[in-house]
Amino acid sequence: MAASPRIAVFPGSFDPLTNGHVDLIERATHLADRVIVAVLKNAGKQPLFGVDDRVAMIREVFAGRAEVVADAFSGLLMDYARAHKASIVIRGVRSAADLDYERQMALTNRHLNPDVDTVLLLPSAGVGHISSSLVREIASLGGSVHGMVPPAVETWIARRSSAARTHSV
Ligand code: PNS
Repeated sequence: MAASPRIAVFPGSFDPLTNGHVDLIERATHLADRVIVAVLKNAGKQPLFGVDDRVAMIREVFAGRAEVVADAFSGLLMDYARAHKASIVIRGVRSAADLDYERQMALTNRHLNPDVDTVLLLPSAGVGHISSSLVREIASLGGSVHGMVPPAVETWIARRSSAARTHSV
């Protein structure tokens, strides 16, 4: 009997997807047969992109990579993981502060569903400083996010900025 595929969920806000996320997703594909990048439908205060756009840009960046799928979710992550037969959750850890937060979340998720393990991954040296919130800040102040996000996401941000300029004149 063939073993069932190992499915990983990488949940997050991804507003927007950064090169740090891409690095972690690539690492996750070595651990699982399928990686579901799951964008939380949260009512974040000042999102740069809507959830549908975030899912679309992840699909664009990973086009042609059947093992990486993007989706949106709401509700409990552990319910989503159960519904999609995922056995691992992927999260990244850049710092001690991240570890503190991720540890509490991973242990709480294990309390909710002991069948799912959280795998905490360290980023590559060159991307460990990147965060979506800093990318949003730089983009909103008109700075360049080149090298911090994939080229396709840079294009989404440039389009968003030029649309904002057009609407403000
Ligand atoms: O990128 P983020 O904003 O740090 O991601 C946070 C996320 C989406 C992983 C977390 O908020 C989450 O899993 N939310 C779903 C609701 C849930 O399951 N809460 C209990 C987790 S301990």
